[in-house]
Amino acid sequence: MSIEPAGLDLLFREARTHNKWKPEPVSDETLHHLYDVLKFGPTSANCSPARFVFIRTKEGRDKLAPALSSGNMEKTMTAPVTVIVAYDPKFYEKLPTLFPHNKDAISWFTSNDALAATTAFRNGTLQGAYLMIAARSVGLDTGAMSGFDNAKVDEAFFSASGWRSNFLVNLGYGDPEGLFNRSPRLPFNEACVLA
Ligand SMILES: Cc1cc2nc3c(=O)[nH]c(=O)nc-3n(C[C@H](O)[C@H](O)[C@H](O)COP(=O)(O)O)c2cc1C
Repeated sequence: MSIEPAGLDLLFREARTHNKWKPEPVSDETLHHLYDVLKFGPTSANCSPARFVFIRTKEGRDKLAPALSSGNMEKTMTAPVTVIVAYDPKFYEKLPTLFPHNKDAISWFTSNDALAATTAFRNGTLQGAYLMIAARSVGLDTGAMSGFDNAKVDEAFFSASGWRSNFLVNLGYGDPEGLFNRSPRLPFNEACVLA
């Protein structure tokens, strides 16, 4: 089985990074649906280190604003939802549940801080990508951002949990008026090697 061409257009070929949003809300039900799709994206040892904060209130936006770069301010303040894609550095504590066929998996990480850090960041980033593609699959538009102060976000949102921010994703229904022209992508022979 493979996805129809229209599905490839929706997820990749016609999908754009949006900068302007229609004044149309995104329901909490849609966010639950989105998570229930993205959670099935694969991670090493099923470790699932990503954590997601869905900011959709004025109070939440006000807390985020001081951390944003000026270029990301307006589009984020007007987005129906902004997701903080974060990760839990102590993700391994959930492995006895998430990877039940190897009860020792937790010790791979409690005994090796560098492996734990790399695993959290690698898989948390992958899950951020799953979030973007899953969002498109349920009819939302996305706009990812790394232009912000991670330390400020961590202090404002994660001082109790110890989670760490990775990147942000605006979600909503994009207004095509805010799009830049599509930038070119590398052709196969510049980005890929057949070995
Ligand atoms: C991880 C990540 C971080 C990004 N950071 C920013 C950002 O801080 N500000 C911004 O305006 N765009 C940001 N972008 C958007 C990219 O520039 C955009 O996705 C890329 O140019 C492709 O655009 P297209 O999806 O419309 O083809 C970011 C994208 C990603 C995936």
